[in-house]
Amino acid sequence: MQKAAFMTGINNIELREINMPKPGDNEVLVKLEYVGICGSDVHYLEHGKIGDFVVNGDFILGHECAGTIAEVGANVKTLKKGDRVALEPGITCGQCYFCKSGLYNLCADVEFLATPPYHGCLQNYIAFPENMCFKLPENVTTKEGALVEPLSVGIHAARQGNVSLGDRVVILGAGCIGLVTMLACKAFGATDLIVVDVIPKRLELAKEIGATHVINAAECDVLKEIDAITDGMGCDIVIETAGTKITYSQTSYIVRRGGTIVLVGLAPQDIIEFNFAKLMNKEAQIKTVFRYRNIYPQAINAIAEGIIDVKPIVTHEFDFEDTAKAFDFVIHHKNDVVKAVIKI
Ligand SMILES: NC(=O)c1ccc[n+]([C@@H]2O[C@H](COP(=O)([O-])OP(=O)(O)OC[C@H]3O[C@@H](n4cnc5c(N)ncnc54)[C@H](O)[C@@H]3O)[C@@H](O)[C@H]2O)c1
Ligand SMILES: [Zn+2]
Ligand SMILES: [Zn+2]
Repeated sequence: MQKAAFMTGINNIELREINMPKPGDNEVLVKLEYVGICGSDVHYLEHGKIGDFVVNGDFILGHECAGTIAEVGANVKTLKKGDRVALEPGITCGQCYFCKSGLYNLCADVEFLATPPYHGCLQNYIAFPENMCFKLPENVTTKEGALVEPLSVGIHAARQGNVSLGDRVVILGAGCIGLVTMLACKAFGATDLIVVDVIPKRLELAKEIGATHVINAAECDVLKEIDAITDGMGCDIVIETAGTKITYSQTSYIVRRGGTIVLVGLAPQDIIEFNFAKLMNKEAQIKTVFRYRNIYPQAINAIAEGIIDVKPIVTHEFDFEDTAKAFDFVIHHKNDVVKAVIKI
């Protein structure tokens, strides 16, 4: 038997014993060590759904994870017992147009951890496909391994924006996603990193880990500040990771002529006011981000080589037994917690 943390209703989590999973021929059994608490987990717990994805019955949350292989299936060749791995949480069909053309994050038949109806990884053991488990080098911990998931979103955002050497980037929102996006942009060579948020603690952390300018949107006019910092030029790349209608609508004003806007944040509204005339005059473009594709190996290497340090992003750690308390803490201390992880 093993334990799993079930969401049994709105704002209710309880640990329960369930049967041990058995790895299939192409799967490995992973003893999970760290699981990150993501905004989406918290959203499911508080609201029971995200868009069309509705939690039906008892549900295991968690999709940012890493652990150690305890057993391998009959056909597994590249991994062995004792290897430490980060799990990429979306299992795709491999057959559709999107999978075959390499855009597998757009596969409509993806089975993504903790996206109903698929359970997540807040449990002791999980059986998972060998090809979605990425080996961690000796100098990368499984705690860092759990951060590879959000980091991959940040790297994908930087890639979508084609962030390159010497670029000036503004990141709207300094949550976990905004901060890992900043780290990715820095790793891609951006030299000016402007970070905007309304929470002072998050801006402090942004500064500590590499932001060249921070702007508190609650205290000043963001458009004017960016104008001043860039001498009226605007930013080469604007990355929206706050998911608010205000920040969405700011993007066309602060991007430079010929620049790129990358939308990462998910706003609660489907329809948002946006100044397209500004965009047209500037011949600026908009790109979007849906999770990530083909990034885990690169993200793990960047951590192993010290090019990206995700450790400061983790601000809180809880024991598995305290999973319910951990979620409660995260919900009630939004100004203090950037990323909380559960030690399984
Ligand atoms: N596109 C994707 O694949 C993808 C993947 C993961 C997360 N997301 C989305 O990315 C967003 C960020 O995720 P997160 O976990 O970092 O969330 P978060 O809530 O921790 O971060 C959002 C940040 O935006 C800040 N903010 C709010 N109003 C602002 C304003 N007016 N100006 C500047 N900043 C402001 C908040 O204070 C907060 O720090 C969420 O909307 C999430 O749903 C998208
Ligand atoms: Zn996540
Ligand atoms: Zn597919």
